[in-house]
Amino acid sequence: GPGRIVLGIETSCDETGVGLVRLEPDGSVRLLADAVASSVEQHARFGGVVPEIASRAHLEAMEPTARRALDEAGIKLSDVDAIAVTAGPGLAGALMVGVSAAKAYAAALGVPLYGVNHLLGHVAVDTLEHGPLPSRCLAMLVSGGHTQLLSVAGVADEVTEIGSTIDDAAGEAYDKVARILDLPYPGGPPIDRMAREGDPNAIAFPRGLTGPRDAKFDFSFSGLKTAVARWVEQAREAGKQLPIADIAASFQEAVADVLTEKAVRAAVELGLDTIVLSGGVAANSRLAGLARERCAEAGITLRVPRPRLCTDNGAMIAAVGAHVLANRVEPSPLGLSANPGMSV
Ligand code: KG4
Ligand code: ZN
Repeated sequence: GPGRIVLGIETSCDETGVGLVRLEPDGSVRLLADAVASSVEQHARFGGVVPEIASRAHLEAMEPTARRALDEAGIKLSDVDAIAVTAGPGLAGALMVGVSAAKAYAAALGVPLYGVNHLLGHVAVDTLEHGPLPSRCLAMLVSGGHTQLLSVAGVADEVTEIGSTIDDAAGEAYDKVARILDLPYPGGPPIDRMAREGDPNAIAFPRGLTGPRDAKFDFSFSGLKTAVARWVEQAREAGKQLPIADIAASFQEAVADVLTEKAVRAAVELGLDTIVLSGGVAANSRLAGLARERCAEAGITLRVPRPRLCTDNGAMIAAVGAHVLANRVEPSPLGLSANPGMSV
């Protein structure tokens, strides 16, 4: 049919994702399928992703997940016109499973292969839901692995990191605090739920790197995590019943406050009128709510992909693939290797 179909593969962490999009002749990109298999339950008892387990899970889930995506789109593998795959950043062994599968599909089908950057995927995915991005925008990526402010021009063309975390990622802070509060892994969803019953101003937890001499657009969450741990320890020593909802709400407020304050300030200073909020933590109700409030005050348009597209998936990689295909970027060689430390 008309248009070109891009199959995207994502295996950088604990999600095996295969997405299908169609690059239409008019340049627009349509989401056809988005199949994800997660190994998150297998990591739960370790309180974090175990790389060996993630790699093995990808190997088992790869083919069935691709099959599911094709079925969902109602197409055959031979209808695919290009393959895009996350080349980095991520876990080395996990990335290699996706890259190997992508090479096999590209070689068998005789179609171009594109190794793409996972972080760009988190930005490009928004085009599948809200259409083309403005020529310049600010992206805030917040997940278990990253916490970054990016200045983005033309999705894949020019991306500059203007700030990032100097220690824990925002999602990592959620996961660690959940552990302190004996809540399940991953910690974001249960803390988000508990926080709804609590008072966000009950405890004044620290806002990292907000002093006048601190790097303006960098983040730090390890001090916040330590402050929560200390508060909980003292309450336990005093034999007090833990006010879990208040702790969750106050912690969540501290994270949302710093993230949104810095993102809006960065956008204003760089003269960008659009912020794309993405990554697993973008699903957080308070973060999205506060971002909406502060963007409205500053006259900034906020774009947040739906939660399913915010977390790791293959459609976001296919979206970048469609973009590079549209821009006639040279394909990657079949000798493509994974680049675990890839930056933007
Ligand atoms: O993007 P993602 O699925 O995977 C990567 O880390 O790349 O993000 C997962 C992270 C986890 O740390 C999880 O605790 C966090 O996103 N998360 C949330 C929420 N849902 C997921 N954090 C806060 N609030 C949520 N509702
Ligand atoms: Zn991610």
